[in-house]
Amino acid sequence: MTQTTAESAARKQRAQIRVRTLRTDRWWLAPAFTFAGLLLFLIYGLWAIFDKSYFVDPYIAPFSSPCLATSCPEGARLFGLAPFGDWYTLPPGILILGLPGGFRLTCYYYRKAYYRSFWLSPPACAVAEPHGKYTGETRLPLILQNIHRYFFYFAIVIGLILTYDAVLALVHKPAGLGSWILLANAVLILCYTFGCHSCRHITAGRLNHFSRHPLRYKAWTLVSKLNARHQQFAWASLFSVMIADLYVRLVAKGVINFPFA
Ligand code: FES
Repeated sequence: MTQTTAESAARKQRAQIRVRTLRTDRWWLAPAFTFAGLLLFLIYGLWAIFDKSYFVDPYIAPFSSPCLATSCPEGARLFGLAPFGDWYTLPPGILILGLPGGFRLTCYYYRKAYYRSFWLSPPACAVAEPHGKYTGETRLPLILQNIHRYFFYFAIVIGLILTYDAVLALVHKPAGLGSWILLANAVLILCYTFGCHSCRHITAGRLNHFSRHPLRYKAWTLVSKLNARHQQFAWASLFSVMIADLYVRLVAKGVINFPFA
């Protein structure tokens, strides 16, 4: 190898340092909090799916909405319908949670969050990861992350159903605190959903001239504002859906009573 070739090969290599990172700040704090927050959500979600106290007129718990089978209490059924009829007898959450769950699991922000906090790949900027090999999202199973845009369409439907649930509770007389909690949750979920990177692409991706598409430009501007806060809405809606869900279940179990209900 000539000296020039050897020099150029050395330049292409990463800097060889003995320590895992040269960072001296508390870089582990963010992945640790993320790990704790996501784990809490997973544990709560598992409990909520199998909890039977998901409806008390006029509230339905978000983790169990929409309720689409005859096994659902009558007031809990979406538009009074039961398209899944008698054959579906499992908890309603099992039927629908794959859609919002898949939406969050494949979200660009959450991917960064759980790749760092659960998979440590890498745990933070400028911190070496423990894995020896990196294949990115180029092969199974991570290549499936590309179906995120399709989950987005289902997520819009779920967001609108949660808004409908909140409005139904609000027009009920008397409207309790739970109506406002459900409404706040629906708004945060919609802000998270419409701030999705896929939504931004749908509104104005591949456009060459904004001036020829004023409506799409307007939509893109609005979506971009939500998109800039996507991380904040991801966390706010994660906690709001847990709080709203738990609130309804506590009312249904008689732990919280009117006028607070
Ligand atoms: Fe986060 Fe689509 S990128 S929901």
